[in-house]
Amino acid sequence: MKPIKAFCLLLSVVVLLVSSSRPSAVRPSQSDIEPRIAVLLAKMTLAEKLGQLQQLDGEGNGTFRPEHLDLARKGLLGSVLNVRGTQRTNQLQHVAVEESRLKIPLIFGFDVIHGYRTIFPIPLAEAATWDPASVERSAAVAAVETRASGVHWTFAPMVDIARDARWGRIAEGSGEDPYLGSAMAKARVRGFQGSSYNASDKIVACAKHWVAYGAAEGGRDYNTTEVSEHTLRDIYFPPFKAAVDAGVGTLMSAFNSLNGIPSSANPFTLTQVLRNEWKFDGFVVSDYTAVAELINHGLAANGSEAARLAINAGVDMEMVSRLYNQNGSKLLEQHGISEATIDEAVRRILRIKFRLGLFDKPYSDESHEAGSIFTPDHLAAARAVAARSMVLLKNEKQLLPLSRNLKSIAVIGPLADSKLDVLGSWSGDGKPDDAVTLLQGIKTKVSGQTRVSYAQGCEITDESTAGFAEAVRNAREADIVILAIGESASMSGEAAVRSSLDIPGRQLDLSKAIMQTGKPVVVVLMNGRPLTIGWIAESVPAVLEAWFAGTQAGNAIADVLFGDVNPGGKLPVTFPRSVGQEPLYYNHLNTGRPPDEKNKYTSKYLDLPWTPLFPFGYGLSYTQFRLANMQLSGKQIPVDGTLTVTLDVQNVGQRSGDEVVQLYLRALAGSVARPVKELKGFQRITLEGGEKKQIEFRLTPEQLGFHNREMKFVVEPGEYKVMTGSNSEELIESNFMVIER
Ligand code: NOJ
Repeated sequence: MKPIKAFCLLLSVVVLLVSSSRPSAVRPSQSDIEPRIAVLLAKMTLAEKLGQLQQLDGEGNGTFRPEHLDLARKGLLGSVLNVRGTQRTNQLQHVAVEESRLKIPLIFGFDVIHGYRTIFPIPLAEAATWDPASVERSAAVAAVETRASGVHWTFAPMVDIARDARWGRIAEGSGEDPYLGSAMAKARVRGFQGSSYNASDKIVACAKHWVAYGAAEGGRDYNTTEVSEHTLRDIYFPPFKAAVDAGVGTLMSAFNSLNGIPSSANPFTLTQVLRNEWKFDGFVVSDYTAVAELINHGLAANGSEAARLAINAGVDMEMVSRLYNQNGSKLLEQHGISEATIDEAVRRILRIKFRLGLFDKPYSDESHEAGSIFTPDHLAAARAVAARSMVLLKNEKQLLPLSRNLKSIAVIGPLADSKLDVLGSWSGDGKPDDAVTLLQGIKTKVSGQTRVSYAQGCEITDESTAGFAEAVRNAREADIVILAIGESASMSGEAAVRSSLDIPGRQLDLSKAIMQTGKPVVVVLMNGRPLTIGWIAESVPAVLEAWFAGTQAGNAIADVLFGDVNPGGKLPVTFPRSVGQEPLYYNHLNTGRPPDEKNKYTSKYLDLPWTPLFPFGYGLSYTQFRLANMQLSGKQIPVDGTLTVTLDVQNVGQRSGDEVVQLYLRALAGSVARPVKELKGFQRITLEGGEKKQIEFRLTPEQLGFHNREMKFVVEPGEYKVMTGSNSEELIESNFMVIER
């Protein structure tokens, strides 16, 4: 490699990138927005400006607080979160729009993470579909229900890369990979916002948590992160960039400190990268009290300093703490902040309110609400996406799919009939009563002749084995056992970190007791993160990863178990053998001493293989696929060229099924050390039994490039390896050269 020469090619690559990754223009056609903002700004008092920068929380049950009415009337409130339902939002909005001096509408925000009332699978599960169209549909359904409920803004997508399964918020994102994560980020933004979020069925999205929140040390939530600029730019930034390019209206600044500077007061990430490099023109909201937490971080000595640091760094709206409002005027007097900075923050917030159409249509249609939520269409979409998210981890002797005419099925396990848990964490306005459990799904699916018994066996976490005997008895009397085990919904999500990734409580013992009956057993896993399931993977003949699949979980799992849907999901995260391997991710650097069984002095463990239990991208089907005949369009391409890779994929079984064909790339040497492989393309395709198809990937400079020592995105000349396959480990390889022009 010759980095210097490569650097000279930067310009053309950048031009190419810029032109190929322009926002797909999520800009309402309101060319008069900027002049209207200027008119308003000219009329606003300082207090009214600071008021726009304030977001306050509602009551736990979705109502606003009396204080909100008062502040809205005085024009001293920009936004509320968690207030929902058109009657409530309209009541508060009427006060803001009709009783305040300047009639500026409020923007209502809520965490709609995987559905508003119709709950879809958790985002990690949706990423396991490897199907951006499904994820876009899920976000679009959420947008319809959210806007119909008077809410304009979701705090989603969460696009944090998560390489450590201990971190509970891994459930809320798309896993460990920046390429898959970027595809999902784009899909979610498109689904929420559409081409214009002033539409009555669209909402504005918020990419969070900017940035590197998922890199928390030890996986402990809110913890410190230390991430090199290379890793930020190549791993943690891309999904945010993808969201910005897709037109995301807002970002949320994270809780964590990043390389010593808290993310909610970090001028490098908030201004240099976001505004100057990426030209983001929406607004940034802090995470919940993150501005006040700058004091705990040891960055600010008091509230006034916290406000000064956050707003000057580029946080426009303050969530819940009130330091901008309490200190703004004094800071202005003392020249700690400038009026221009305040005006710019207000301008960004008003811009999004205009783009939402709130000045022209501030109220929501109360008669439209009930009919737009939890519709048969939405439920059908939730069921389809859930079924597509499931990952078949093992299927010995083709135990699955099950026949509908079995004489008896024993459904066992603490997650088999739990309505609460299937919704997962951050389940919006979802109601456990709406949820279909696995037991219900199976009962609905089988014919009248099949006897379905149920025993809980044990709780998810406690130590009692009192229910084992009944569970074992049921298992003995049945043709087959379906055993639903895993985590409770509350074991992942925010502030839900685990130091063990084992199946909690006595569930493993229950599984062993059931296996001892000698009956065929299918384990259905429900969980919000990778689990260490070594014994299960070794001993149980069939294992289906069902995640927390949402409102329609039970129906969707039954669709897969009985073969109405052939599972085609793939893991968006690596499953470790032991928690001691974390952080474990496939796109790691090679090190100077890559693991080698024959050589002690290499990078590995004394007491465990270095490999994962299940690799990134892994997943089986009820049919088999053969991938062969990989062809490259040439043996070399110029640095600004494109390589085409073709491959034959054949369904060599009888049943129609989906394969996710994956393409990985490795630069054999670079001006900075390169990962052993990186996902650079994927396609989920459906093939009928026997069907063969040629698929094509294009490797453009956007996929070939990385950040060099000067932090410039470049394509470097040299030798590359391209790999295709059905997961990140079983791959066909070929090499090619990138040459200077
Ligand atoms: C804190 C969480 O970190 C964030 O993701 C969420 O959007 C806010 N609370 C608001 O609920």
